[in-house]
This record gives sequence, C-alpha cells and structure tokens, in this order.
Amino acid sequence: MCGIVGIISEKEVSPLLLDAIRRLEYRGYDSVGMVCIHQNKLSARKDAGKIAEVDAKLDFSSLKGAIGLAHSRWATHGGVTRANAHPHYDCKQNIALVHNGIVENYDELKKELQQRGHSFSSDTDTEVIAHLIEENEADDILDATRKALHRLEGSYAIGVISTKNADELIAARKESPLVIGIGDRENFIASDIPAILPFTKKVIFLENGEIARLTREKVEVFGLDGIPKKKTIVAIDWDAKQAEKQGYPHFMLKEIFEQPFSISETIGERMSEQDILLDKEIQGAVPNPMEIKRLIIVACGTSWHAGLIGEFMLEELAKIPTEVEYASEFRYRDPIIPDGTAVIAISQSGETADTIAALREAKKKGAKVIAVVNVEGSTIARESDSVLFTHAGPEIGVASTKAFTSQLTMLYLLTVYLAEHRGILPQDQIRNRIRDLRKIPHQVQEIVENQESIKELAELFFRHTNALYLGRGINYPIALEGALKLKEVSYLHAEGYPAAEMKHGPIALIDEKMPVVVIATKDTRTYTKVLSNIAEVKARGGIVIAIASAGDNEIKEKVDHVLYIPENSYILTPLLAAVPLQLFAYYVAVLDGKDPDKPVNLAKSVTVE
Ligand code: F6R
Repeated sequence: MCGIVGIISEKEVSPLLLDAIRRLEYRGYDSVGMVCIHQNKLSARKDAGKIAEVDAKLDFSSLKGAIGLAHSRWATHGGVTRANAHPHYDCKQNIALVHNGIVENYDELKKELQQRGHSFSSDTDTEVIAHLIEENEADDILDATRKALHRLEGSYAIGVISTKNADELIAARKESPLVIGIGDRENFIASDIPAILPFTKKVIFLENGEIARLTREKVEVFGLDGIPKKKTIVAIDWDAKQAEKQGYPHFMLKEIFEQPFSISETIGERMSEQDILLDKEIQGAVPNPMEIKRLIIVACGTSWHAGLIGEFMLEELAKIPTEVEYASEFRYRDPIIPDGTAVIAISQSGETADTIAALREAKKKGAKVIAVVNVEGSTIARESDSVLFTHAGPEIGVASTKAFTSQLTMLYLLTVYLAEHRGILPQDQIRNRIRDLRKIPHQVQEIVENQESIKELAELFFRHTNALYLGRGINYPIALEGALKLKEVSYLHAEGYPAAEMKHGPIALIDEKMPVVVIATKDTRTYTKVLSNIAEVKARGGIVIAIASAGDNEIKEKVDHVLYIPENSYILTPLLAAVPLQLFAYYVAVLDGKDPDKPVNLAKSVTVE
C-alpha cells in the first residue's frame, strides 16, 4: 500500500529520501510528499501525481535538512488530492508524520480532537495521529508518540519528526511493515528493504507494538509501555543492483527475464542428485512427514494461483489431501482444522494482511504453519513455524512474475520431499523428478529468448477489449494467472476458466472478436479433451491462441496462433506455460501505452484488509 521512508544523517537527506521513495513507488503511486527539518522549521513539499511528475514540479532534492521523511500514497481515506498527500501535521506544524495503514477509529478520534479545538487540513485518517501526538507535546516526541499510539485502532507504520526534538526520528508499527536500516552515523526507516539497500544491508525488523527512536548515532527500540527492547541486527543478502531496472524498460520485463536465475536460486542447495534436502527448513512445522494428514494452503491473488497448482502437485505426488483457500475468506469462516493438519501460507511480500490473519487463525486453532515467502524478516516469515524462502530476490513490478514461478518451484520441492519421506515415490522416480526440475531454468531461458513471436502476437491483440483464458488440470490455474496478468497491467477484461466449464456459460461470449488463450500442452490426460474444447471455440468463430508443447505440429491446423513451450513432465508445465502469458500481458500493456510497473489502483503489497 503506501510506502514510507525516513532518514537521519549528517548530510542533506532529500536526495536520499527521493531515491528511497522511488524504490517504494510500487507500493502506491497516487501522491507523494517529503518533509525535512531545516533551521528548526518543517519544510515540506507534496502533491497528487506520480513521483517523477511531482518531483519535476516541486524539485524534492532542493529541500534542505539532515533529517526527513517521505511518503508515496495509495489512497484509502480521502481522495487523491494535495491536501491528503502525506506528510500530515499537528495544528502548529511542529510535528510531521507519514503513515502506512488504516486508523479504523479515526472518525471518533477526529470528532473528539475537533471538540478540543484541533483543526484539520485533510480528509485522511492519518492526520488524527499528528494531532494526538500534539496533545502530549509537553513530553518528548518518543513519549508523546507512544501515548498517541495507545489511542489507535487499526494498523500503522509511521515515521514522525518534530522541531522540538529535531535530532530524533521516531518510528512505530502495528500490522504494517517497517524496517530500520543501520548506517554509519546515519539511520533509516522504510516500509520495505529495497528502499534502503543502496545505503545499508544491516536491518532491524520492528515487531507489532514496538516504537523506535533513531538518532544519528544509535537506534533504541521500546515497547508501547516504554520498556526498552533488545533487537537483533540482521544482515540482508540482497544486492542493491537487484532492485534496479538494469537497462530494462520496466521491472516487470526484467523480472520475467530473471526467472531462469530466480528459479535456480529457489532450488539453491535444496536438491542433490537423488534427494530433496528440506529437513532443517521444514522441521519446525513438520517434524515427521508421516504424521501429516491434510494440508490447507492460504494465499491471495497470484500466490493463491500458485497454491492451486501446489494442491495438484501435493495430491498427485505426495498423496496428501490438500485444500486451497483465499486467505481473506478463510479468516472470516470458522474453519475446521483437525489434528494432523498443516497450513501452508504463500506470499511474496510476507505482509499481505489477509494472509497474515489466516495464518494467525490457523495457529490459534493449533495448526503448524509452513510459510512459502520471498521477503526475509517479513511478518509471515517471522510468525510461521517453518519458512521456505523462495529467494527470488526483490520483486518490484506490481504484477507478480518471478515470485510466482519461484513459489511453484518451492511447492514442487516440498511435494517431492514429502512424497519421498512418506514413502510414496520410489527412489528412481525421485531422481527423475529432480532431473525434470533441473531442466526448468534452461527451458524458461529458451522461452524468454524467443520472445519475438509473443511480441508479434501482442501487436495483433492489444486493441481487443476482452479475452478468455482456458486450461485444464494443473494448467487451469495458469489460465487464471494469465488472465489476471492481462487484466492487471493492460486493463483489458480477461477471464480464466477451466476449459470444460466454458460450455456451462462463457461459451455465450465467443464470437469472431473474442481471443481465447488455451493452454494445450501435450499430456496423456487432458490433451485430447482440450482439443475438443478448442474445436468448440472455433465452431463459434473464436480466435484461438494455443500454448502448446514444442514439436506439436498438428495443433497448428486447429488454432489461429501457437506459442510453443519446451516439453517437461506434466506436473512442471505450469512453470513454463506461465512465462509466455506474462510476456504477452506485458507487451499488450506496453503497446497500449500503459505502464506495467504501475497499474492503476493496484499496490504491490496489500497490507490492509
Ligand atoms: C498479482 C499480484 C497480487 C499478489 C497478491 C498477494 O500480480 O501480485 O495478486 O499476488 O496481492 O501478494 P503476496 O504474494 O505478497 O501475499
């Protein structure tokens, strides 16, 4: 959602704040603002618009001061206006605040504060926090903020500065992410690690209900009761370069092209020739794989699609009954979690509010939780019993691409591990499964290197307004994911369906203007059925684009366009079939003049419910 950064240094911070907030723009991009303290006064600039546009107008780097905050907004309360952009202030403009989250009781607090004479300049929920801090202005800024936070319901990650304590930066969090970066006579706060990677790789993860005071020399962390807390400094192994475009026009394209590498990183040291080596990583949640009776996967969006494919893998190869749930639905039911059930929470960011809530619900009911997560130190990683990091590196593009294929890789590794340790798959089959996965990075490389045909196809279709995606079996979730990618970045209406379900409704939509993307890879189970579905579409004049297995020449006669992917085992085809669909969505968006890195209304990390 919103992105926040704060820096206290010995040098001018505005250029650093600008650099950092640009790296967080993927979290929200409808408004931007910056505030510094200079000559004991707050000096701020903010407006609605993307960072580059607002910076061209307001020149953020010319703000003076060695302490400051910046914010990139994704509106929740209050329209997209200059007044609602952060920072927000108290009445006297001594205190400035940036916030990510939602103050749920802001209405009641605002009325109460107004009755006591506070005047408000925005329609945001955030502004109440600045006025609540002001109410305790006799205290130092740490205590004043701490007291104000006791009044809040909802979620927050905040950065606060005050002219009265001009050498202190205050940060606090509850349910919204915040990381503290430790520098050399300078310290940082940010919503996410990539923002501060160019400055430091040493970080402290703030927990819920913690508040920190940063000076140039040190960082102190307290509970909301004011009691000091001991925190560990964690070294991050991401490289700042990974969070750059490195010559690609967009992060989305860069991340699609990175997949051979990110998949290899997910595999890492987790496979020998004949074994999957997950014992240590899985032990906290699954001390004995034989005891798992049932798995429940919880996730949102693209991660949920990965979960659907995981279900297929786990049932087919490890023979464990598996259910996949939208985290946002799971948490509001009263789910039955019998003994022997383990829950798998899948999340790129590790900060998706609904997935966190589902994880907590599962733990409350006694289940052990395995997290499949990309971001180290994230809430889901910290709160789970075992963490399987996907190691895809920072994913900046709002539409998830490399994180998805890394999640699939991780789920496959977990599946084969469980199949092996439950005695389901014999050793020769384990070897074959491992060999199949080893081929995937090269095969993905082949697809991205031959992207010309995908680009050409996008040229034919970018003016269409609708598309249908069909798949069966393990590739049905790929139809959902292909449609989601197209929707997200190009704003075309696209729907994913199980191919056979088409007859039960969506077939009514098919005419000679409707492109239908069909995942029609060659396998013994569904291929001939999918060919029948293709015939049904063609009989109604639909335009069929098939994702087919290399060497399948006959399919050319049956469809209008074919994109080939290399052959591998059926269970691994989603890792290959996803890639041309990601590229297709990317090029349709770009040809239609859209910025795929900043789709309207979307935010990378959905930290509100
Ligand atoms: C789609 C996309 C979203 C995320 C979803 C969950 O391209 O990125 O649908 O997959 O918001 O996010 P994580 O995986 O961070 O929990």
